[in-house]
Amino acid sequence: MYELITKKKKGVELSTEEIKYIVEGFTKGDIPDYQMSAFCMAVIFNGMTDRETSDLTLAMAESGDVVDLSCFGDKSCDKHSSGGVGDKTTLIVAPIVASLGGVVAKMSGRGLGHTGGTVDKLESIPGYRTELTPDEFMSVSEKCGLCVCGQSGNLAPADKKLYALRDVTATVDSIPLIVSSIMSKKIAAGSKNIMLDVKCGSGAFMKTPEDAKRLAEGMEEIGKRCGRNTKALITNMDVPLGFAVGNSLEVIEAIEVLKGKLCGDIREVSVCLAAGLVANLKGIDTESAKALCEKAIDDGSALSKFRQWIALQGGDVSVIDNTELFPAAKYAYEIKADTDGYISHMNAEKIGLCSCELGAGRKTKTDIIDLSAGLVLSKKTGDFVKCGEEIARLYTNKEDSLAKAEEVFMSALEFSERKPEAAELIIDKVE
Ligand code: URA
Repeated sequence: MYELITKKKKGVELSTEEIKYIVEGFTKGDIPDYQMSAFCMAVIFNGMTDRETSDLTLAMAESGDVVDLSCFGDKSCDKHSSGGVGDKTTLIVAPIVASLGGVVAKMSGRGLGHTGGTVDKLESIPGYRTELTPDEFMSVSEKCGLCVCGQSGNLAPADKKLYALRDVTATVDSIPLIVSSIMSKKIAAGSKNIMLDVKCGSGAFMKTPEDAKRLAEGMEEIGKRCGRNTKALITNMDVPLGFAVGNSLEVIEAIEVLKGKLCGDIREVSVCLAAGLVANLKGIDTESAKALCEKAIDDGSALSKFRQWIALQGGDVSVIDNTELFPAAKYAYEIKADTDGYISHMNAEKIGLCSCELGAGRKTKTDIIDLSAGLVLSKKTGDFVKCGEEIARLYTNKEDSLAKAEEVFMSALEFSERKPEAAELIIDKVE
């Protein structure tokens, strides 16, 4: 390992065998954390070639369970978001794609910090089971072309161990390390078609379009090298997506989109992500695929697929017809504008932190969250507000969290006399 660290320090390219040796040795515990940290720091400074990155990705993907979706041929689809606020697109994209013949058999994660996670959102549906046996996972996927469960304990364990180490050694922010970390989990999850949503802006991991593009290009390249049809969109996360932030509130909003009752940014981003996968499945161009996705919402087929899916995973589908049946938070509190003007900026990260404060998110991995807590925006960036008008409504079961949450929320807002220019929703694409 000493020699390999030295090689990387000098910028020498490592062979496939050398990278395998590092990943296997580290996963088994033969290579100690201090040597692996030194190696990661050398990668931070000297980077990795695409070949090295794809070898690292494959070695980490193969370090644990690899899901076999080969029975679905080229139809298996996955979607990954680099993390945002109010991002409930999986709940909309998955049923659209499944209603059009794809098989979305995927594992999702939980929320941490200001960003939410699909598994938490789904658990807000009474009865929905996120922990499935491998047989149940395959059976639900076969029956309805759609299954979403929590990540198996042994998916890419090398990444789990490495990410924990990078987190405490200031070695997270390296494109090859981020690419291999994210893509190893996607490759191990088994889907042939992968759609990546790289978020960009104040609520995202990547703050600038340039950084987001570098990450998107890196992931697309490695996905293709590993034999997966991979595409990426870079989408705006400078303001929360949609109006709702918080678990059950976001599921309710996704249901509204699937019912065709809500348009705007959340429907547009979801349709564009779904279209990337549908274009692959049907061998058509993205515009034609978009039209099919819009139709799947308008004719109710995506909503029926959603209903079938939720029922198969044990969820109570009566909440779909009557969203008031979702458990509600005890306290609702209106935030009112303290000035007249246009909202010129709404810091998405701070809005996510406000939702956390109300109980909807985790500050540490072991925190218990309140699935009914969160907030619903009444106004977003670009809207005019009058002093005293409602900007958002906060929901919580912890009355004493409201004052701090309001303070965090207000610190996210900037006002101006002039209407700000509308930001691009789909910033770029890589395919
Ligand atoms: N998310 C991941 O899964 N890995 C990284 O390295 C960064 C973000």
